[in-house]
Amino acid sequence: MPWVDACAVDDVDEEDVVRWDHGERTYAIYRSLNNEFYCTDGLCTHEQVHLSGGLVMDYEIECPKHNGLFDYRSGKALRAPVCEDLRTYETKVENGRVMVLV
Ligand code: FES
Repeated sequence: MPWVDACAVDDVDEEDVVRWDHGERTYAIYRSLNNEFYCTDGLCTHEQVHLSGGLVMDYEIECPKHNGLFDYRSGKALRAPVCEDLRTYETKVENGRVMVLV
């Protein structure tokens, strides 16, 4: 499993999320208010909607379609209609770049 350079630290605003496509897959990269970075699968587990269009509040991401809620640190589904957790991926910051273990 390789570490992959996903984006620059500055590409993600604080308390926000961006979409990152790599290979055949799409991911979501989050930056918390404490400047920690997290990565999950990019699509909601309810329907195939990009979470990057959703709203980040604290450590939660709200899906833009039906307002399902996940904790983006653990991927845990927190509010209906989502019941399946998101997959999460380890991240690290190196030389101003966000690296993801895919
Ligand atoms: S598609 Fe995300 S909650 Fe329905």
